[in-house]
Amino acid sequence: MPRPVARLVGLILLGSLGSLGSLGSGCGPEGPDTGEWPLGGAHGLNHPNPLVAKHVKQQPVSYPLRFVLMADTHHPTGDATFATLRQQILQLEPPPAFIVVVGDFVETGAAQEHKGYLALIDPFPIPIFSGIGNHEMYPGNRKNYELFHGPEDFSFSVGSCRFVYLNDIIPRRNGLTDLQLDFLVAELADPATPNRFVLMHAPPPVIPPPWGPPPFFNEERLYRAVENAGVRLVASGHVHEFRHALVRGVHYALVSGGGGNQDPLLQDPTSQGIFHHFVLVTVYADGKAKLEVVKEGELAIPDPNYTIWL
Ligand SMILES: [Fe+2]
Repeated sequence: MPRPVARLVGLILLGSLGSLGSLGSGCGPEGPDTGEWPLGGAHGLNHPNPLVAKHVKQQPVSYPLRFVLMADTHHPTGDATFATLRQQILQLEPPPAFIVVVGDFVETGAAQEHKGYLALIDPFPIPIFSGIGNHEMYPGNRKNYELFHGPEDFSFSVGSCRFVYLNDIIPRRNGLTDLQLDFLVAELADPATPNRFVLMHAPPPVIPPPWGPPPFFNEERLYRAVENAGVRLVASGHVHEFRHALVRGVHYALVSGGGGNQDPLLQDPTSQGIFHHFVLVTVYADGKAKLEVVKEGELAIPDPNYTIWL
């Protein structure tokens, strides 16, 4: 199915699910938690994403609010690193409210891989959202993402924070459709959630991979949307390293050291690094926020060289 058509079908599906409410709460607390997921997937503690959102919403919100972002955990090849990072996350005190894996949590998107990945995350005691990346979209397997995890584009709120996940993968030309950008702008408009975070697997060209940015459809409109909304952070994966840039008031970061192979050709200038890691984001009651990098094997201790105030 051509991508715009698939997107439209997904949005129509969301709109048709009374229990999911409007697009603005596509992954909100109203999601079903029992019975059959509309597309036939099985339920577990950490899937599909609407159920995860419901669990997060049921937790009391306290500040500082802490959550983890990571990407490219790549089951099964990245399992060892992903296991180590999960153990480090469990050592965080206080524990983060939830984790978002920003794409590429499996290798090819085959159903067996999704089941293997869910066997890893479902028993984990911290809620985990699983966003789509290019490795979940191998030919013939894209449908499995929605089957096991829910809509490709979704959003949820926790306290003062709004999170919007968008599928920006288009082979050889990443980007977002007009419909997605309309969705993004609407999702970022609620004054009750002024701390806004945008998540998508492929980084926009302002934070390009070392081999250069591919064309990015609707690039300028994306920048305008996140700048106008005062987005705190746009977090991506895809490149298997940590990287950060501050561009026209918006922080962009690659949080993609979750376990996937790391290219020896990558460079390592200041404020980025080729190492396996996750990032811990802390949002304080007064609106201050910071991003910290925790490297694989270094317990739960952030590396002070990579602390960024958002
Ligand atoms: Fe990856």
